[in-house]
Amino acid sequence: MKKIVTFIIILASISCNQKVEQTEISSEKASEKTNDKKFEMYEMSEMSLLMEQMYVDNERLKERIKKGDTIGEFPNHFLKIHEAVMTDDKENDAFFKEQAANFIKAQRLIYEDPKNAKQHFNDGVDACLKCHQVKCGGPIPKIKKLYIE
Ligand code: HEC
Repeated sequence: MKKIVTFIIILASISCNQKVEQTEISSEKASEKTNDKKFEMYEMSEMSLLMEQMYVDNERLKERIKKGDTIGEFPNHFLKIHEAVMTDDKENDAFFKEQAANFIKAQRLIYEDPKNAKQHFNDGVDACLKCHQVKCGGPIPKIKKLYIE
């Protein structure tokens, strides 16, 4: 049990640092799945929770676009990106604000011009990555999986 707790704390403090995170996960393979959930409940910032939500929403949207289903309305909770509390408030700088605005613009286009949903969706993923390349490297491989080929 002690080992598990250590793992959770390490993951929480370096969730933007992929290298360390992967090492920790591979050394704790057995407990990885079950404990990710527990960790989310009490360690994640408001911004991290929003990010995870946006990830899931985009996974679902990707499936709808691939199937040619209707894509509905722009998810207004994405706008929380402008104000959600981050693990480190200093990260909410001019670069972050600019990238956040670009990201929202890109995501809106999916709904405003659904005929070209695939193109706009992939531009949205580009916008996630543009910010992450500077702000938070860890989730980059995961985000890249969102691209529609
Ligand atoms: C404007 C910059 C920016 C954009 C755009 C952005 N992110 Fe993030 N993301 C961050 C920052 C900063 C964090 C770390 C938040 C914290 O630690 O409070 C983060 C964290 C994450 C996390 C890790 C959350 C955790 O701790 O478990 C995931 C996953 C993620 N983002 C996915 C995405 C996806 C998917 C998109 C696009 C749909 C996206 N991000 C768009 C800046 C951004």
